[in-house]
Amino acid sequence: MELSDVIRRRRMVRNYDPDRPVPAEVIDRLLGYAVHAPSAGFSQGWEFLLLDDAESRAKFWAVTSTPGEMDNWLSGMTRAPVLVVAHSHRDAYLDRYAEPDKGWTDRDEARWPVPYWHIDTGMASLLILLGAVDEGLGACFFGIQPERIAAYRAAFGVPEAYMPIGAISIGYRDEDRRSPSLKRGRREATTVTHRGRWGR
Ligand SMILES: Cc1cc2nc3c(=O)[nH]c(=O)nc-3n(C[C@H](O)[C@H](O)[C@H](O)COP(=O)(O)O)c2cc1C
Repeated sequence: MELSDVIRRRRMVRNYDPDRPVPAEVIDRLLGYAVHAPSAGFSQGWEFLLLDDAESRAKFWAVTSTPGEMDNWLSGMTRAPVLVVAHSHRDAYLDRYAEPDKGWTDRDEARWPVPYWHIDTGMASLLILLGAVDEGLGACFFGIQPERIAAYRAAFGVPEAYMPIGAISIGYRDEDRRSPSLKRGRREATTVTHRGRWGR
């Protein structure tokens, strides 16, 4: 598929065909795309947790969701045969930038007005989302509620140093409802681009 088609066709899919597994080699390709994302200092401070069996997916949903809340959303999302949780690793950046060619040996987080570890992991996640479109799959990036993160870590043995920036559900798409957020309309490039000076 042309890149422009992949970009335009990408949208978050929140309902899947639970009876159509995603071949392991396809998932491997998606994870392979993720590690081609750019990263500050080539720090590559990202780690992914792949949940592609029923038991681990059930455990994920049990620790991250509350039955009775968002049931519509959950019923579609829990049908996804694959989940990939994306984690950013701040220390990888502090360590990398303390190396001789960068020289920030104080490892001071104030040097990072923007936490590039989250940004880079987000970029890697986008490559998974785009790759999914190219593979004829649907995918959705979604957040883990802050009060659920400790339970998530405990359930899967994720160390404190790794922040789950979000999870990606992946599968063959089934009919789903458009997100109500889309009613906001897309902010077009002409609106969000300032030319030469802010406000123009
Ligand atoms: C950082 C981030 C967090 C998001 N969190 C959620 C989420 O928790 N649940 C969800 O259903 N969608 C989530 N989305 C998807 C957005 O709702 C969606 O991207 C937006 O409405 C635009 O729709 P589209 O991606 O289908 O074009 C998230 C997207 C991003 C980039």
